[in-house]
Amino acid sequence: MDWTRKDLLGLEELSKEEIKLILSTAESFKEVSTREIKKVPALRGKTVVNLFYEPSTRTRVSFEVAAKRLSADVINIATETSSVRKGETLIDTGRNIQALKADIIVMRHNCSGAAVVLARNVDISVVNAGDGWHEHPTQALLDIFTLQEHLGKIAGLKVSIVGDIAHSRVARSNIWGLTKLGAEVTVCAPEILIPPGIEEMGASVTNNIEEALAGADAVNVLRMQFERDTEGAFPEQLEYFKNFGITEERLKKAKKNIIVMHPGPINRGIEMSSEVADGLNSVILEQVTNGIAVRMAVLFLVAQANEQNEKSTD
Ligand code: CP
Repeated sequence: MDWTRKDLLGLEELSKEEIKLILSTAESFKEVSTREIKKVPALRGKTVVNLFYEPSTRTRVSFEVAAKRLSADVINIATETSSVRKGETLIDTGRNIQALKADIIVMRHNCSGAAVVLARNVDISVVNAGDGWHEHPTQALLDIFTLQEHLGKIAGLKVSIVGDIAHSRVARSNIWGLTKLGAEVTVCAPEILIPPGIEEMGASVTNNIEEALAGADAVNVLRMQFERDTEGAFPEQLEYFKNFGITEERLKKAKKNIIVMHPGPINRGIEMSSEVADGLNSVILEQVTNGIAVRMAVLFLVAQANEQNEKSTD
């Protein structure tokens, strides 16, 4: 199949075939990062703008590395030092970036739906690098890519997602992606961090960590977003670790080769112990490495589709 979308906004709207196409394209790009000269000319002459309204380490750097490995020019805009501080709207900022003849905007925004709004208002490609609590599609794609590399398939796998599900765009994108590819997804958190409607997305729910780990092929552990706890409703950190933290003790009762994932940044001693984060089951740093290939694939596919769309409307 051909990729025809100018944007990547979320996994909810993608078909199983589109997800598989991104994964297979990423597989072919992965090798580039092992070369002595880590570069291919696929996006030579294109300009990628990283527009980040929220802090980021992994995603921003990973998109920059991915774009540079494709030979694109990259501009990073940190909104604290841009005209956003003077009140410029998202749409005006996007249209100005377009007027500067950029080809792709990679955007992280604190508001759910911001990437959709931007994509509807510019002709250039928009890639969602995380919007509010809504979606973080490239994170889920790199999680799925990493699982597939280790286990050879996604269909039939049992994947548990543990942590702050309520505020997690990573959880939502993973649920859409994994269930479309045929995995069984369970989410596990204290009742207060389970959002309404999560079962309608295709996930099972438990508040019992031992139940979530039993029989799971992989556990994806999410950051507790304590900064969002404006009402003091979250469990206290030590209590959370006691009841939900991933420890070696708990892993002993799980499948021997259970894969431990985390999108980062990790709160060690809250979501998981350091022994688990750095242990044999952990693939956390592999996820980061795989993010480059996945983002190369996404940038390549959206740029190619937009070029085709422009040619067909000429
Ligand atoms: N996983 C992730 O999105 O990390 P950053 O916030 O550092 O980009």
